[in-house]
Amino acid sequence: MIKKIGILTSGGDAPGMNAAIRAIVRTAINSGIQVLGIRDGYLGLHQERIFELKRDDVADILNRAGTILGTARFPAFKDEAVRKDAMSILRKHEIDGLVVIGGEGSYKGAKLLSFEGFPCVCIPGTIDNDIPGTDYSIGFSTALRNVIDDVDKLRDTASSHKRISLVETMGRNCGDLALYASVACGAEYVIVPERQFSLEELYKNIDDGLKQGKRHAIVLICENVLDIKELAADLETHTGLEIRTTILGHVQRGGSPTAFDRIVASQMGSYAVDLIKRGVGGVCIGIQDNHIVHHEIAESLCQMQHKFDVNLYNLSNLLI
Ligand code: F6P
Repeated sequence: MIKKIGILTSGGDAPGMNAAIRAIVRTAINSGIQVLGIRDGYLGLHQERIFELKRDDVADILNRAGTILGTARFPAFKDEAVRKDAMSILRKHEIDGLVVIGGEGSYKGAKLLSFEGFPCVCIPGTIDNDIPGTDYSIGFSTALRNVIDDVDKLRDTASSHKRISLVETMGRNCGDLALYASVACGAEYVIVPERQFSLEELYKNIDDGLKQGKRHAIVLICENVLDIKELAADLETHTGLEIRTTILGHVQRGGSPTAFDRIVASQMGSYAVDLIKRGVGGVCIGIQDNHIVHHEIAESLCQMQHKFDVNLYNLSNLLI
């Protein structure tokens, strides 16, 4: 019989995390389960910063990005002794199950806790969309909207000046943000970690566009692939045009969550409580082919890979 559950958000914040927290709290309370919030991820758990979350505490948060619980990266959680302390804190507060909302690093912590005997359920929350076992992570849709809004603005000024605009997106080692935005914004070229970058191909796409009378070129680049300033220098020499570089940075993570992020986060949050009520732990939730599903965390981390959408990549190159 589950009486009390805990929630924490961990890693980079993602728009929609609050919607998930709200759904967890309200689903649990509707089933007579008490909910404890843990501040600042595994760090706050280690420091025992735990408080009760009531129905009203999650009012008016559905439309806000970030996370009301706060978040942190806490590499020390890899340490077995630190996790043992965390487990005794969870037991001291009589928490029966923990919902962890975050990215791959957060999943690893939850996997270890589950192996060591504490049931955890993970919800994918990261703008990177790089989590295995789910087609979409909470926050990706909103970050994509943010990228598109900014690239549309950059296009206005680039075409007025006949310039080339190089735009770096976040994504860590996953090209989804850059790739999806490239199709949505009609970029001339997209550079992602999943595909070998070819300078010749980039030159060709830009040269072809200029020959056809285009007054701008947009190149989207996922972070951590190359040095955007060096690429700008190469392109300037090759085309003789002015280049401007923009690193979008953390603006991608803010702003009111899209309908998609709010809805999926609500579905996942509610599903997480149902799983804990059924005594299911050590699992992560996903959305696959439009269905909410769950997998073993270990299986998802070790045997699954987030799929790169080759068709979308080919479409991006075809539509220039
Ligand atoms: O994982 C989400 C993410 O926004 C990545 O895209 C990015 O590389 C990283 O976090 C930035 O981390 P921080 O917010 O710690 O600077």
